[in-house]
Amino acid sequence: MKFNPADLNRHQSHDLLADCLTPRPIAFVSTVGEGGVYNLAPFSYVTPMCNCPMIVGFGIGRKGKGQKKDTLLNIEFAKEFVINIVTESLAEAMAKTAKAYPAEVDEFKEAGLTPVSAERVKPPMVAESPINMECRLTRILDFGVFPDCNDFVIGEVVRIHVKDEFMADRRVQPLKLQSIGRLGGPATTYCRTTDIFKIRLDG
Ligand SMILES: Cc1cc2nc3c(=O)[nH]c(=O)nc-3n(C[C@H](O)[C@H](O)[C@H](O)COP(=O)(O)O)c2cc1C
Repeated sequence: MKFNPADLNRHQSHDLLADCLTPRPIAFVSTVGEGGVYNLAPFSYVTPMCNCPMIVGFGIGRKGKGQKKDTLLNIEFAKEFVINIVTESLAEAMAKTAKAYPAEVDEFKEAGLTPVSAERVKPPMVAESPINMECRLTRILDFGVFPDCNDFVIGEVVRIHVKDEFMADRRVQPLKLQSIGRLGGPATTYCRTTDIFKIRLDG
């Protein structure tokens, strides 16, 4: 089959793109709102963008009528966020934070996760996550036409925390990390990263 993206509505476009680009890592993003409330939400439209400086980006869609999600509002306000890496053991808690809670709800509490102070940014890190990236907003790119618009948040990583038990020879160990990926299909479909293979570069 062939598809012309111009013929697809917002939901059809999302489903096709999310089905095709898999598996996607999940940025579990912590932010803090104007009133000091902690927010957490998963975003799988995420990518590394540059090594030096270390730049990452992730895409935020809009709610049904085009309203901004709390994560975007908080980043526009505080200009800072933390990306926490999601592992198998964090998957259920992560999924809880994808519900549309009112802005005044602390999503760390809802998910049963522990906020711990970051070193260089105000939003807290998820203590249970093996990797936390403290980020400062670089810029936000906006795409589309209201109410079908999306914002792509770009930030510079100003500190990375990796728990020692996931490191060996200064590299993060993927089989220990057990990060999970988002697949296409129903919104509940994920994959593990424990079935890996290697390709020799010199072979
Ligand atoms: C695994 C997973 C990945 C998601 N990825 C995205 C994404 O890339 N962009 C997006 O806008 N929403 C994504 N969502 C939905 C948001 O997490 C959801 O809308 C959330 O309620 C936003 O929270 P907030 O209003 O506190 O920012 C994802 C949900 C899950 C479970």
